[in-house]
Amino acid sequence: MCGIVGYVGPRDATPILVDGLRRLEYRGYDSAGVAVIAGNGIERRRAPGKLRNLEAVLETSPVSGHIGVGHTRWATHGRPSEENAHPHSDVSGRLVVVHNGIIENYLELKERLVAQGVVFETETDTEVVAHLVASYYEGSLEQATARAAGELRGIYSLVLMHAGEPDRLVATRLGPPLVVGIGEDAHFFASDVQALLAHTRRFVFIPERTIAVIQAGSLRIVDAQGKPEPFREETILWDPVQAEKGGYRHFMLKEIHEQPRAVRDTLLGRMSLDTGDVHLEEMGPQALAVIEKAERIQFLACGTSWHAGLVGQFFMEQLAGVPASTDYASEFRYRDPVVSKGTLVVAISQSGETADTLAAMREARSRGASVLAITNVAGSQVTREADGALLTHAGPEIGVASTKAFTAQVAAIALLAVFLGRRKGALSAAAGRNLLASLARVPQLMDHALSCAGLVEEMSRSLFKATDFLFLGRGVQYPIALEGALKLKEISYIHAEGYPAGEMKHGPIALIDESLPVVALIPRGRGYDKILSNVQEVKARGGRVVAVINVGDDHVRKVLGKDDWIIEVPGVEVDVLGVSEIFSPFVTVIPLQLLAYHVALRAGRDVDQPRNLAKSVTVE
Ligand code: F6R
Repeated sequence: MCGIVGYVGPRDATPILVDGLRRLEYRGYDSAGVAVIAGNGIERRRAPGKLRNLEAVLETSPVSGHIGVGHTRWATHGRPSEENAHPHSDVSGRLVVVHNGIIENYLELKERLVAQGVVFETETDTEVVAHLVASYYEGSLEQATARAAGELRGIYSLVLMHAGEPDRLVATRLGPPLVVGIGEDAHFFASDVQALLAHTRRFVFIPERTIAVIQAGSLRIVDAQGKPEPFREETILWDPVQAEKGGYRHFMLKEIHEQPRAVRDTLLGRMSLDTGDVHLEEMGPQALAVIEKAERIQFLACGTSWHAGLVGQFFMEQLAGVPASTDYASEFRYRDPVVSKGTLVVAISQSGETADTLAAMREARSRGASVLAITNVAGSQVTREADGALLTHAGPEIGVASTKAFTAQVAAIALLAVFLGRRKGALSAAAGRNLLASLARVPQLMDHALSCAGLVEEMSRSLFKATDFLFLGRGVQYPIALEGALKLKEISYIHAEGYPAGEMKHGPIALIDESLPVVALIPRGRGYDKILSNVQEVKARGGRVVAVINVGDDHVRKVLGKDDWIIEVPGVEVDVLGVSEIFSPFVTVIPLQLLAYHVALRAGRDVDQPRNLAKSVTVE
């Protein structure tokens, strides 16, 4: 939510800031702005709407300088307008601030400042920070920021610049992420590493409640009292090219197609096909000990990551024999959860920064649970707060709708389940070998599943006119039905519901008529006959079906009529009694992602940046 970038160095700051904002735009796109020190003062350029509007402003009214800050906004306080766009300025115009987060006590602070004669110009909570810091400014932005930060309540990452100190930027954070990028002759701030990969792979993650000061050739971090705080530099190995569209029309489409690679990389080096064991030694002995002791798994996550948890529940119970449940992180701490001894909380978060997930982790920990994080971002906040982290290797995910991060999360959880199953004796070596051999085949089968893209595009020609969709699945396909519905909703704005197929007769069946497409997930496996009966119930009421079936399943074809659509995906066979379909979600989710993509495209939606959403949700 909101993207921040800052630069100090020998080059022209403006193009660097704009490029950084382009890479951060997935965090919010309600407005954008930059400020640079030019001559003796600060020049600001801001525009409502997407970054291209700011670029147009910069074309007619260029600014340049060697130090500056930029911001792309996801509105919380105040509508998306030019005046509410960051950077915000103090009354003198010599100090500016960019902010990600929410200042909860801004009204209180504002009243105080207004009483002192300060005139506010915007409806935002952020403006109060500019005036507050300015009120304490006596020649040191660092000291004024430290003093003001002590009075702020809420969550924030802030970067400040003062015309009187044109060689430095000052930052502080509590909650939302902020990294320092270390270049050859320049230093940067950004909300995440992706914004800076074109400039450096060397990063320092700024600890909470500290003050970070960057100059062209240096970084200093101090605590609230001004005492130097030690920090560690980390090298991020993501390839900057991964964060480009690579010839695809949208990031989402590219990321859908990257899934075989993302799953392969997540599995790579962690499976021993000879012994049937999973190797997670990279997590360190402490984390492994925590996992081995788990008697119950509690997944905590939001949105698509929550769906990965629901799939993981099946893996844990069926493969490891360990009871598992999945909670919305945003609900967990509001219901006095009972966290028994032996509960291992597994927090799943692509970004590693989701505020609700972090809050739920803290709640679980305060109740005595050990916490493991599954995340795509090395060094992110969840990794810092957990007892151990299992990284997915999906590479940067830029499309706001999550795709490759989801299947990579499912792969990581599958590894964790086989690991636990083997350690706890629930899986024999033969069963372990069998499961791992099947997992190793998954990327290839996902590749094959992607060949339905042309057919799905064709189907979207008529489906995009529908106003509602129902997605049905049973067992491990039920979370995939939920995921299919979420993907469609978020990027096409078409209402969709995911339902466990067996529940249809308890209510949603009343919705069925010829105008409601029903997407049914029918791969071979345990629930096959039952869901086929549900499909017949839909047909009997004139409903139209989009069936996702296994290649060569002629039986389903006999049930369906010529008005229905059939998408074939390969079966993911596992030769372990009772769990033959357990890994089928890896392939059945692919046509649903493609369906959402093509329907949204036909409906004229902005696929990579759907309205009202942001990739990284750092507010509760
Ligand atoms: C949907 C989507 C969101 C995220 C959710 C959690 O496509 O991307 O539902 O899954 O906001 O985000 P992370 O995984 O970063 O915690």
